[in-house]
Amino acid sequence: MRLTGKRALITGAARGIGRAFAEAYVREGAEVVIGDIDLARAEATAAEIGARALRLDVTDQASIDACMAEMAAGGGIDILINNAAIFTAAPIAEITRGDYDRVFAINVAGTLFTLQAAAKLMIAQGRGGRIINMASQAGRRGEALVAVYCATKAAVISLTQSAGLNLIAHGINVNAIAPGVVDGEHWDGVDAFFAKYEGKAPGEKKREVGAAVPFGRMGTAEDLTGMAVFLASDEAQYIVAQTYNVDGGNWMS
Ligand SMILES: NC(=O)c1ccc[n+]([C@@H]2O[C@H](COP(=O)([O-])OP(=O)(O)OC[C@H]3O[C@@H](n4cnc5c(N)ncnc54)[C@H](O)[C@@H]3O)[C@@H](O)[C@H]2O)c1
Repeated sequence: MRLTGKRALITGAARGIGRAFAEAYVREGAEVVIGDIDLARAEATAAEIGARALRLDVTDQASIDACMAEMAAGGGIDILINNAAIFTAAPIAEITRGDYDRVFAINVAGTLFTLQAAAKLMIAQGRGGRIINMASQAGRRGEALVAVYCATKAAVISLTQSAGLNLIAHGINVNAIAPGVVDGEHWDGVDAFFAKYEGKAPGEKKREVGAAVPFGRMGTAEDLTGMAVFLASDEAQYIVAQTYNVDGGNWMS
């Protein structure tokens, strides 16, 4: 029960990694709010795991502000996990401005302005806080077909550093987690992109990336929960502006 008494907002937690984080935080005693654009699924997830759901579109400042106002009214916010993001892939010659804008709006602007709104509330509360951003191994190195998504995750690593340095003066620790390849609905979509651009059979890319992980398989959402709990716990008090790889050994930095 390392998070007893803490109030956490986890974006994009209706499914996937965010859902596993929400479950782990509930197990550790936190009061968890799932903020997701898919309200029906967020509500279903919240009911199953003992959390609360709010509709949140991280590209919409009014939605972010309304969500933070709800958090404030309910007792404040101690932990934010900036987890909502989408994936895209295309060869450089086929990237469209519309797709670029859409993905950056969620993955980068969404991360920054949700972080900003949470930080403002945390500063006003005067009890510090924890912010965890979801980066990716994709932010460590470009990939031929994944320019836009990789750039968004490199931006998340950079924002984590700047926000971490700025906000630690208020007792707010900002850090990030960089997963490798995590099985789930997100990777079903990634697999479909590679099937399209590399002519692979459905499921083939997944098998390839899983076999290439030094640990010997793709990650699961549950593989990431230990780091998410640790970074929110008292034990991580002296950790500032870092991005941790939790990827079965894929990347070293
Ligand atoms: N799955 C992986 O292999 C992997 C690897 C590295 C990093 N990541 C990162 O981990 C995080 C979670 O990934 P996942 O696999 O669980 O993804 P996912 O696609 O399964 O879940 C993303 C969630 O975000 C929500 N969402 C989308 N747009 C939103 C918006 N505008 N506002 C609010 N919510 C929105 C979706 O409804 C969904 O519930 C993401 O930041 C992702 O980039 C995932």
